[in-house]
Amino acid sequence: MGIYQIAIDGPSGSGKSTLAKGVAKELGIMYLDTGAMYRTCAVASIKKGINPKDADAVKKMMDEVKIDVEFVDGVQHMILDGEDVTGELRTPQTSIAASDVSAHPVVRPAMVSLQREIAKNQTFVLDGRDIASVVLPDAKYKFFVVCAPEVRAERRLAELEAAGDHSQTKEEVLRDIIYRDEQDSKRATSPLIQVPEAIVIDTGKYDIEGTREFLLSHLDEEDK
Ligand code: DC
Repeated sequence: MGIYQIAIDGPSGSGKSTLAKGVAKELGIMYLDTGAMYRTCAVASIKKGINPKDADAVKKMMDEVKIDVEFVDGVQHMILDGEDVTGELRTPQTSIAASDVSAHPVVRPAMVSLQREIAKNQTFVLDGRDIASVVLPDAKYKFFVVCAPEVRAERRLAELEAAGDHSQTKEEVLRDIIYRDEQDSKRATSPLIQVPEAIVIDTGKYDIEGTREFLLSHLDEEDK
């Protein structure tokens, strides 16, 4: 069995990371959450009091901060200037700031080269927005995940509430999802793109296990 990569792209809250994690566990391969890397840039902007929409300030910030990815027992940790910020990545504020910050062209090359470097010598499943289009155009497997915004909002709300975060209503979660969809797919640099060869997975159609089985059914026997 050789080294191969599985690219999973799709919009916010479409179930990409649940799918990618499940596939990694089932196949015993590594998982790289590339959104976590942009979320770490967002945490940096929040900690430094920088407006994530301010291109000049973000450029300066990116020259100053050091972002590393570490795997501890196969689990990804994000390190910002030596501090583990993994626990700070998934707040509603960070989600919006990540969408803002990731739209600046200056932020992307460093993240993309780190992603390529990490996934180069090992079999990986990666999820993001530009994995099949930019990061790994030669990935052996490419999937594009879709799901209706209302279904995504319900799922995200349940996730937040399960984590004890009751700060948002369903309408607010839906508004944030629509904002990020617009921004992530309309930005000039590396927008969310479905490459023609990607296999589409509608996570609204299946439960978690069904979605995973659908993806796995598209892999060659030798890779299972
Ligand atoms: O997948 P996520 O919701 O954790 O991603 C957070 C933000 O990062 C998202 O709004 C868009 C951006 N992102 C990106 O631009 N490119 C990627 N490969 C992954 C995420």
